[in-house]
Amino acid sequence: MKFVTLSATLTALLCSTSPVLAQSPGDDGSAQARARETVAAMRPEEKTVLTHGIMALPLGPGMVMPEDAVPGAGYIPGIARLGIAPLKETDASLGVSYAAGLRKDNSTALPSGLSMASSWNPQLIEEGGRMIGSEARAKGFNVMLAGGVNLMRDPRNGRNFEYLGEDPLLAGTLVGHAIRGVQSNNIISTIKHIALNGQETGRHFVDVQISEANARESDLLAFQIGIEIGQPGSVMCAYNRVLGEQACASDWLLNKVLKQDWGFKGFVMSDWGAVPDLNAAMKGLDQQSGEQLDTEVFFGDKLAAAAARDPAWAKRLDDMNTRILTAYYAAGLDKNPVAPGGRIDFEANAKVAQEVAAQGIVLLRNERDALPLAKTARNILVVGGLATTGVMSGAGSSQVIGEGGPAASIPLGGTGPFASFANIAYHRSSPFAAMEKMAPEAKLRFRTGRSVSEAAAAAKTADVVIVFANQWSGEGFDQADLALPEGQDALIAAVAAANPNTIVVLQTGGPVLMPWLESTAAVVQAWYPGIRGGEAIASVLFGETNPSGHLPITFPASEADLPRPVLDGFDRLEPDFIGRKPAGAAPLTANYDIEGSDLGYRWNARQGHKALFPFGFGLSYSRFETSQLKMKGLSATFTVKNSGKVKGATVAQLYMTANPAGPQQRLAGFKRVELEPGASQTVTVSIDPRIVAEYVGNGWEIAPGSYSFALGENAEQLGTPVKAVLPARKIKP
Ligand code: GLC
Repeated sequence: MKFVTLSATLTALLCSTSPVLAQSPGDDGSAQARARETVAAMRPEEKTVLTHGIMALPLGPGMVMPEDAVPGAGYIPGIARLGIAPLKETDASLGVSYAAGLRKDNSTALPSGLSMASSWNPQLIEEGGRMIGSEARAKGFNVMLAGGVNLMRDPRNGRNFEYLGEDPLLAGTLVGHAIRGVQSNNIISTIKHIALNGQETGRHFVDVQISEANARESDLLAFQIGIEIGQPGSVMCAYNRVLGEQACASDWLLNKVLKQDWGFKGFVMSDWGAVPDLNAAMKGLDQQSGEQLDTEVFFGDKLAAAAARDPAWAKRLDDMNTRILTAYYAAGLDKNPVAPGGRIDFEANAKVAQEVAAQGIVLLRNERDALPLAKTARNILVVGGLATTGVMSGAGSSQVIGEGGPAASIPLGGTGPFASFANIAYHRSSPFAAMEKMAPEAKLRFRTGRSVSEAAAAAKTADVVIVFANQWSGEGFDQADLALPEGQDALIAAVAAANPNTIVVLQTGGPVLMPWLESTAAVVQAWYPGIRGGEAIASVLFGETNPSGHLPITFPASEADLPRPVLDGFDRLEPDFIGRKPAGAAPLTANYDIEGSDLGYRWNARQGHKALFPFGFGLSYSRFETSQLKMKGLSATFTVKNSGKVKGATVAQLYMTANPAGPQQRLAGFKRVELEPGASQTVTVSIDPRIVAEYVGNGWEIAPGSYSFALGENAEQLGTPVKAVLPARKIKP
């Protein structure tokens, strides 16, 4: 019987004092001291070199790229006299971004954030981070704008695909490990976008209203856990407003929460075009990014002039430089200079991407054991989703495209300034070709799905039909609703009516409704599965991979169940990649106190809603049982058993179900466990005390009394609760 202790890292960190930046390998822990020495040696004119930079893309006339810049997200000049290299920044969480194809190079595309989160596997996500960070380094970048962790508050948010779901413990833990992976390459990673960046509609001016406690217990807790585990050198602030202030000029978010309460020693960089004025520096912003997209360069001469005339500004300017250089030295940028042309093992990296995709695939339905397909399956019809061409990917700054460009790129058209960015891109990884390779004896046919009647007719003569249904998603746009677009619901319904042995493979950027669900044999959620997505999908369909993914988000049964049935502003604002406030537009407010910190499954539990598919849901080709839950304070021990016939992995989930005030559901711990058939394992989970606490204004408080915990197959299928009596406890903010 093997004992496995979870979150030892988290527990150790929780006992630490305010988190200082993790020292890079070989750093003697004095990054901040070194930074102070360097700042002391700076000349006045050097003090506004690191505090602002350009978007490193030759966008528009007069945009001159510095000769040593690498086409990517950003470039901050260095200070050669002091041995400080330029900061060369690339996006993002899913790999080295495409940058409009300007580098004409190859990058390995990880699957989407929701795919990564569906693995519930921190070690795997760290491996993915390590891989993409190594490619960033090899291309000459020393800053990776990774660590996207905004919680899914609205299932229609266009950037949900990039992020890690709706729960702060799961998302915070995974993003922390992703950041550790990226920074293991001696480059700086961000965590982004602080905070409450919950929609793309009106993203530059939507004003989020939320109580401190609700923010601390949800979105901010994800950032806090991610920073404790990952120790990112930089935090990127968001476009939106919070309590009336631009997030990049929010004294509360940046100075009070991040720097004072959490003790963050690195630097805050703005999002690109997110700086409202010079005074943002006094509110905690340390670096202006993508300055061409702002109304002016605030953090250059204007900042220097303020520092020259006012000692408070001079002190703040020194602090800005100290923070940037603390991150620089902590990550080891000085001792490990980057240069383009580094060697990349794309085959090995693609295997990492494929493993992440395989572990991120969620089996949602499997009637009559329709899956896995026998390799002797004779007559397989594949329909739709451009399944012979490639796999879908999400759009925007996180877009990664491999060598030779996308397998297909479908322009959406439009007239806005960034309409050219709105392309539906497919990765060069064909599920159809991968299935043919997996089952050489089978006869595979393909129908595009453009004609419903043609696909239904072809379905009649097939042994099994696999319909690929895709929902494109991208930065700058929100989904209009949760329906599959482009008539795919009707296509699936017609095909399933023609052949009940119909399997649906979804490639979506978030949850979707499934009016055809009961007429299908199986449903597989593959998300945007990355550069080897076709192979990962085929591997699950034919049973080479036993699916182990579990949903990191709730699939609502209806939009009427949502805290905001209509996404704020969607019914009156034009979709616009930049999302700037149109002249004369009324202010836009998002009231997140409706759900507060009860996102997704917690909202459903509070409201008594049942999900279409709940958070944590995922089937396997095997069967697992969890049992013997014992609670000892904030430590839980239980047994996981594989009672099926094949090796597989599951995700054991521990939920708090009640506190002394009454019912309150929260994920309290989790562990992905891989077991041979018949084997079992005892797991120990240490619960982060903040999960069971309430935020009470100057910190967290655990009220004394009885708490209930239960093991869960998912957020709605819970075992018998076990009580634990906890003493009163205060925890620092
Ligand atoms: C974008 C995104 C941010 C990205 C940055 C640089 O608009 O919001 O995530 O890192 O600009 O491309």
